[in-house]
Formats: sequence, structure tokens, C-alpha cells
Amino acid sequence: MSKRTLASLTAADLEGKRVLVRVDFNVPLDGNGKITDDTRIRAALPTIRYLSENGAKVILASHFGRPKGKPVESMRLTPVAERLSELLGRPVVKTTDAIGAGAEAQVAATNNGQVVLLENVRFHAEEEANDAEFAKALASLADLYVNDAFGAAHRAHASTAGVTEYLSPCVAGYLLEKELQYLQAAIDNPQRPLAAIVGGSKVSSKIGVIETLLDKCDKLLIGGGMIFTFYKAQGLSVGGSLVEEDKLDLARSLIAKAQEKGVQLLLPVDVVVADKFAPDANAKTVAVDSIPDGWMGLDIGPESVKQFEEALADCRSVIWNGPMGVFEFDKFAVGTEAIARSLAGLTRKGATTIIGGGDSVAAVEKVGVASEMSHISTGGGASLELLEGKVLPGVAALDDAA
Ligand code: 3PG
Repeated sequence: MSKRTLASLTAADLEGKRVLVRVDFNVPLDGNGKITDDTRIRAALPTIRYLSENGAKVILASHFGRPKGKPVESMRLTPVAERLSELLGRPVVKTTDAIGAGAEAQVAATNNGQVVLLENVRFHAEEEANDAEFAKALASLADLYVNDAFGAAHRAHASTAGVTEYLSPCVAGYLLEKELQYLQAAIDNPQRPLAAIVGGSKVSSKIGVIETLLDKCDKLLIGGGMIFTFYKAQGLSVGGSLVEEDKLDLARSLIAKAQEKGVQLLLPVDVVVADKFAPDANAKTVAVDSIPDGWMGLDIGPESVKQFEEALADCRSVIWNGPMGVFEFDKFAVGTEAIARSLAGLTRKGATTIIGGGDSVAAVEKVGVASEMSHISTGGGASLELLEGKVLPGVAALDDAA
């Protein structure tokens, strides 16, 4: 770990100190404002508990949704504060604004060990603009800074980057540290063979990650809607399947690059096709060179699952990003769910399995095997950017390790 971490701060450093902790509490809500997945809140608990137990005043800052710089009632952090309070088993004070006299007064009234959650930082346009005055106002609430918001570490915003100009020390929290350790180690120093499974609907959104992984992995398994762009690039007929026509050359060059680098690139051999994009569509399994006109591929087929499982069998590390099909529709979730189960089996056999990206995490949770993976990332965009080899501004801004 090249950055200073929370573990380097002891009770002597923390007792009575006001600690600004950037967390990513951007959790999903249902139509009634109820949190449907509290994983991100739970994931921040070790950092919050450590600070609180060591006598710090814990001042949490988070964004929630994309309110575009103005207060939006449905994007207040009130339900998050309630859930956090339940999880901690103690009251959590929620401020009405992230900065200003009200927030200052509420922080000033905080006792050692207490937890305050500031209102959504994105109610101020200055947050996303990484405005220095706003960063200064946030920083004025605290003495030191902990970033535990891995999910927002790819954003150079006031609360993820700007505040570090005005607080010291600035360290990585336990969640951020764990995310970086797993994801970085998986690409920099993996146990081999290393396989990457990349899915999702568009090649365009995964170009960076595929290119980087081609330099790192031994096997690259591609699934999801993007396979049809690869098939079309190879001259196959793909019926009504999703194709990015402007990415055909790119798909060909990725196949060539894999060959050059000696990476085994696997594309599915059969697909489940549907007569419409709907949960109740008629479906059948066909070989990839026999997709009928008017039918669209929505999942990988059973032969492909077998082929992928065989390829994964000897792998010591697997990184998975993106579903194999339209797993939101049960009929087309079979391939994605089978891969989730295979990875659980591989973990049991001692392989390191890392799930990055929102959709693959949802799939693993749907199948009920989330607890059987080595690491499930709390960051979608952030994990993708890290796997692409990009510098995450929220990490770069922290103090270097001694
Ligand atoms: C996420 O949900 O991926 C993070 O919280 C980042 O949110 P953003 O894409 O709105 O910056």
C-alpha cells in the first residue's frame, strides 16, 4: 500500500479529534425511499467504529444520487442516517446542510466517539467542481481526513480530493485500503493463471479494461451483449442482436492483440436468442454461427458455460466485471448465474475471486453466493478505472505511506 492508512493512527492521534470521513453512501432506494441494499453502509463500519472507539468525533460526508448542485428532497441522506444508526446501535446526528453555521454548530456539539452524518455534499455544485472555498468550508469542520469512499475515488471532487489541501494527515480508511489491496494485487501480482471475465452490453464501455487486462491476464473470457460486436467483426450473422457498428475494427484488433500476447481469448460458442427484448420473450439456444434473422442474443448458452468453466478450472485468480446476459430477466440470467456459482466453487478450491462492477455484484447477490467470493468491490466505475490502470484522484490526494 503506497498510501498512509488509518491503521497508522492510534488513540493518541484520534482522541478528541474531529475526523472528516468521506464515505460512499450512494445506496439504492426503492420507490418508498427504503434502502434496498446497505452493503456500502456496512462496508464503512470498520472505519467508523475504529474512529469512534478511539475517541474521535466522526464526521461523515457522502454524496447521494446526482442532484445537480441543488437540494433535492428525495436525495437527502435521512434514510441512510437511520440505517447507519441501526447498524451501529447508537444515534447518528444528521445535519441539514454539508457546510455552514448549522453544520458547524452540530459538529461543535458532538462528543468524543459520536457520529455525525453531513447532508448530501452534492447539494452544492461546488462539490463536483472541486471548488477550493467549498473544500475549505468542509475541511473547517475537522482536524484530519480519512477517505473510505472507494466507490467515489475516481471522482476529483471537493470531498474526495480538494479537502486534502486543508487537512493533515489524510489517510485511507479500512474499506479503501482493502479495495486497493485486492484489486491492485489482482492485476499487479496475481497468482496465475489469472482469468478475466468481462461482460456487459457494450465493448465501448469496456475497451480500457479489456486492453489493460490483455497485458495482465492469461485468459480472457468475454460474455454479455458485447460478444455480438466480436461475432459481426468475424463475419458472422448476428440477427437482431446488439452490435456497435463503429467498434468492429476495435473488436478485430482486440482479438489480434490477444493472439500477439499469447492470451487465450474465449468467446461463447452458443447463445440463447429471443424473439423480443422482454422477460416473456420466446427463447431458444443456438450455435453462434446460426443466429436466426430477427432474433437477438440475450444470454450465453450451456455449451459456453461448460467451455468457460473448463477454462476457469485451473485458474488461481479470477476478476469478473459485467454480466453474461440480460440477467434482470430470469429467462436470460442462466449464464450469469452459472458463472457466479462456478466462481463460488473456485473460491472454495482456494482461488482468489474478485467481483468488480455494479451489475456483476448484483448477479452474485441474486444467486446468493456473494459471501463465497474473495472480494466484492463496492465501486462500479472506480473498480473499472482501477483495473484500467488509471490513477484514482481520491487515492492520489492522500498522504504517501512513510
Ligand atoms: C457509484 O455509485 O458508482 C458511486 O457512488 C459514484 O457515483 P457517481 O457515478 O454519481 O459519481
